[in-house]
Amino acid sequence: MSLIYLDNAATSWPKPPEVVQAMREFMEKAGANPGRSGHRMSIAAGRILNDTREELAGLFGIKNPLRISFTLNITEALNLALYGLLKNGDHVITGSMEHNSVARPLRALENRGVEVTVVNCSPEGFLEPEQIKKAVKKNTRLVILTHASNIVGTILPLNEVGKITRELGIFFAVDAAQTAGSYPINVQEMQVDLLAFTGHKSLLGPQGTGGLYVAKGVELTPLKFGGTGSRSELDLQPDILPDRYESGTPNTVGLAGLGAAVKFIRNTGVEKIYEHEKTLTQRLLNSLSEIKKIRVYGPREASRRMPVISINIEGKDPSEVGLLLDEKYGILTRVGLHCAPWAHRTINTYPQGTIRLSPGFFNTLEDIDQTVRALAEIASV
Ligand code: ALA
Repeated sequence: MSLIYLDNAATSWPKPPEVVQAMREFMEKAGANPGRSGHRMSIAAGRILNDTREELAGLFGIKNPLRISFTLNITEALNLALYGLLKNGDHVITGSMEHNSVARPLRALENRGVEVTVVNCSPEGFLEPEQIKKAVKKNTRLVILTHASNIVGTILPLNEVGKITRELGIFFAVDAAQTAGSYPINVQEMQVDLLAFTGHKSLLGPQGTGGLYVAKGVELTPLKFGGTGSRSELDLQPDILPDRYESGTPNTVGLAGLGAAVKFIRNTGVEKIYEHEKTLTQRLLNSLSEIKKIRVYGPREASRRMPVISINIEGKDPSEVGLLLDEKYGILTRVGLHCAPWAHRTINTYPQGTIRLSPGFFNTLEDIDQTVRALAEIASV
């Protein structure tokens, strides 16, 4: 049975061959510790990190690549942004479509005296920028939002929110987990102060990679303190970037893969990737909404969402459908709450959750049509 991988919102698969090749080359040829030693292999490893930072900066319109710090994943990047910025007495605004990677640190920060407002999104997952404006208080320090929902793919109006936060002198942080690599992102145009990204989803890199862009003028308390390979004589963490937020030996093999992945994306073109995924999404949305017992959540227009489609089949438990799709049809999806209970409450699918189909750049229209046929068959019995 051939496999149809529709779980790209959890992690993308397959990866471009260049990614595997770059990782292999690092392991075989340059596998030393970057920035720690002065020998040729250490320098070669350091060059890989620089190249990856430069590729990412080019992709996101970041002028100074050193303002990107690498993290293990986007959860760590978001924790660095939130714990690094927010202090007792600060107020932060977010939306009700957030993933637990934002929701949980915010709830934990509430116990440290940070005030949190969660603005309600519509049942389609959309957020009205005016609601953000209305929630602002004297002590509001930050607005943090996901760029697109990991449940229904709804794209939030971040350009408008960026205008509001800039006008009011509030910091703006964005969780780009579901957009980076397959939707155009420019931190200047979006007026974003903190951009958190993961390497293993639509950036097409390996797991264990991610990072945070920190705009000029934003000072964070580091999450981790330790060896950086720089200013070793100091007892305190050096202030220079990216070392301030990067302690310990990095995931150089992963970052070698990520660099190759971003190069692949830039050579292919984000627009081309986005258009292909939009075509797959629209086909899925149109075909599924013709099946009587299937309920599709989120906007009907692919142009308003990323390729993340949540559905339910009348009378069936999502996990039962997920298992059948895998075992009988070789179609791989993710079911349940997808680490985003707030979002499921917003779209009224809590606590049972949904079956989530998330195509990626390497899926074809034939994959989509086969999936629709399988779901129609499951719904008919
Ligand atoms: N956050 C990832 C997802 O939505 C893992 O599946």
